[in-house]
Formats: sequence, structure tokens, C-alpha cells
Amino acid sequence: PLGNDIGAEIIGLDLRKPLSAAVFEEVEAALFKYAVIAIRKQDIDTTQLSDFGRRFGPLQISGRRHSKNKDSEKRIQPDSLEVNYISNVKVDGKNLGSDDAGRYWHSDLCYETRTSKATILHAIEVPVKDGVVYGATQFTDVAAAYDALPGDVKIRLAGLMAANSFRLMWNRKARQFGNRPLLSEEELSKFPPDAIHPVVRSHPVTKRKCLYVCEGYTDHILDMPEQESRDLLEFLFVHVIKDEFRYQHEWQQGDVLIWDNCAVQHKATFDYAPPLRRLMQRCTVQEIAGTH
Ligand code: OGA
Ligand code: MN
Repeated sequence: PLGNDIGAEIIGLDLRKPLSAAVFEEVEAALFKYAVIAIRKQDIDTTQLSDFGRRFGPLQISGRRHSKNKDSEKRIQPDSLEVNYISNVKVDGKNLGSDDAGRYWHSDLCYETRTSKATILHAIEVPVKDGVVYGATQFTDVAAAYDALPGDVKIRLAGLMAANSFRLMWNRKARQFGNRPLLSEEELSKFPPDAIHPVVRSHPVTKRKCLYVCEGYTDHILDMPEQESRDLLEFLFVHVIKDEFRYQHEWQQGDVLIWDNCAVQHKATFDYAPPLRRLMQRCTVQEIAGTH
């Protein structure tokens, strides 16, 4: 274990070759137990990453990759559509993958109809200065956050559905950070339509109740007056990230970090800048069929 509740590390595996079924089963059990697990010291390429990822289930293609959006031309990505770079590194003026993933607290692909079971992020380069590593990834335990809600709030949340929107996030980031273009309605319409998911999900494996609204993508709660929806979401966004639910992952070069997108939300830390380099490769695993 690395944290109090969520977060653990696994030492001594080699992901360059397929894990035996028995070892893989232990890894997956650890993921559901700790929600965030780091397999240390891995030197793997794009294919080895996606081969490992596929052991958990079918891989997904990010909205940004399959869109016909102009944005995708400005980025260098691996040949495989299933793997993306997350990096602040530029090559010939082009960004290596996405340089602004995780600005807000979120669960990956919550804006898709088919959500994500897990994300796998492999640290190829981590930003280090004077022996200090920057660019940690922060996590919050949304099952513990649900459990800690007052009883009357739990009753109020039962059965509620919320709209999660990729389009809404796009121009918000563009305005706030200026590192992506503001898009017209027409361009935004090429991204997936808003996805409707329960405000509280039952985890498909652990069966724990998990808060599934996030500041990054959740726009409104359905069938509720606008102001009431905004107030309730604001309350939940503050609650879900309280210190007692948190784990912060301090990266080591070579970490393969896997997180459960139903059990945690996460956020990046932008406390480094060029010439410090951060380069990650990432894939996401599709949610188990039949769950939201
Ligand atoms: C992601 C993400 C955070 C980080 O890859 O989905 O949010 O710290 N990354 O890179
Ligand atoms: Mn993310």
C-alpha cells in the first residue's frame, strides 16, 4: 500500500512479456482493492502497453483521436489509435499528444456512453529538478466520499441522473488556459453528444456506491431546476475532493499506473514547465458491458 486507503505498488513484474493468467488475476484483484496501482520500473513500448491493457478488456479510442477535428492535426500521436501521448514536449512546434489532460477533477471518458473501466498511464519521462519529481497525479476515493455523505443527501441522490459533456469542457479549457483553439458549435458537434449517467453508480465489481459527478465534465442533473442542480453539484464537487479521501501519486520513471475510473477521480498537477519534460503513454479500457 502507498496511501491510507487507495493506492498501492507492485514490484518485480515484467510487462514486456504476457503475464500468466494467475499473476494477471492478482493484478486485477489489486486494482479493485486499491483503486490505483503502480507497477514499478517498466520499460515498454506502445504495443506492449496496449497488449497489457487488453488483458483488462477491449481498449477505447479517445474522443479527440476519432474526431475529424482540426485539433488532431496539431498533435503527434503513436500510430496505434488505442494509445495516446500525454506530454508537455514539443517536436517541430507540434505537441506530443495532449498537454492539458487532467486540468480539472474528472473520471476518464465519463462523457462517453460507454465509460472507462480503467486507465493505464506509463511514465516514459518524468520532470525532475534538483532531485525533486514534479507533475504528480492526484486521486480521490469516490466510494469513501459517497459513504461519508450525510444520510439525507444520500436519499436525495438516489436515482438521479446527470449529463456529462465533453463539448462544454473544451471551450472552458480553451478560455481558461489558451492552449487549445476555441471551437465553433459546428466543430464541437463532431465530438460525442453529452452522456447521461447516474449521479451514484454501484461499482460493477466491488458493488460499493460511487459518486460519479465531476467538476471537469458534469454539466447538470436531469429533471431538476437549474439553480438547484448547480448548487447540488457544487456541494458534491467540494465534498468529493476532501483531504481524507485523497491519494497523490508521486511518479517514478517507468511506472505503469492503473486506476479504476468508477472508484476514483483524478487531476494532474501543473507544477513544472519546459525545459523539464514529462512524457506519458496512455490507454483506456472499456467499461464492462451492462454497466454505465
Ligand atoms: C489522463 C490524465 C493526468 C496526469 O491521462 O487521463 O488525466 O497527471 N492524466 O497526466
Ligand atoms: Mn484523465
